[in-house]
Amino acid sequence: MSFYKEDVYVDWIDQLASKDYVVIDNYLSSSLLNAVVHFFTDRLAEDDLKKAGIGSLGDHTINKNVRGDYVYWLSKENDDSLSEFFEQSQEFIQKIKRYCFLSISDFECHLAYYPIGTGYKKHLDQFKGRDNRILSFVLYLNENWKMGDGGELIIHEAHKEIKIAPLNNRLILFNSATVVHEVAQTNQPRKSITGWMLNNPVGLGFLG
Ligand code: OGA
Ligand code: NI
Repeated sequence: MSFYKEDVYVDWIDQLASKDYVVIDNYLSSSLLNAVVHFFTDRLAEDDLKKAGIGSLGDHTINKNVRGDYVYWLSKENDDSLSEFFEQSQEFIQKIKRYCFLSISDFECHLAYYPIGTGYKKHLDQFKGRDNRILSFVLYLNENWKMGDGGELIIHEAHKEIKIAPLNNRLILFNSATVVHEVAQTNQPRKSITGWMLNNPVGLGFLG
């Protein structure tokens, strides 16, 4: 089974290679989007999302001024209702490996919920302690987002800023090492699945 045709992946990967990011609208099928939204709603109802941390020393440094989201790390083993989402991510990774020659071995992702009035200050996703993050991806789950709701992703380039609205079923994929970005303060609760494609864990090579 294949989620998208080869030439569609090639086009996305070309954009990623030339700009360091690509924006993809209507990424999931409507049935999968529904399943994901349903899963998110259940986790919120069960109070499963926890305040996110920052910094490389584990997720213990909580600093609300830097980052205001609540997260739930997804598990490929336990969160079965998202298995199709994991398969689709895996397919995309296979294409990226084929066309970009990146050594991606795995991915990790979490649900993210930004309450009204929160955001995430300007940062890079790859840093000391998190240097295995190769590509970042965010799938937005904000039905009926409109101008004024805030929570845009702002990409900072040398001479300009690019504002990306967190529209429902929009995926953004970007280079974790080079793309400086921030989440503008949101005026509505803001939902997404945020994840990272990871390279081989360094230092384990001797294990074969
Ligand atoms: C992050 C991040 C961007 C977004 O979690 O590191 O930058 O648009 N998220 O949610
Ligand atoms: Ni980030």
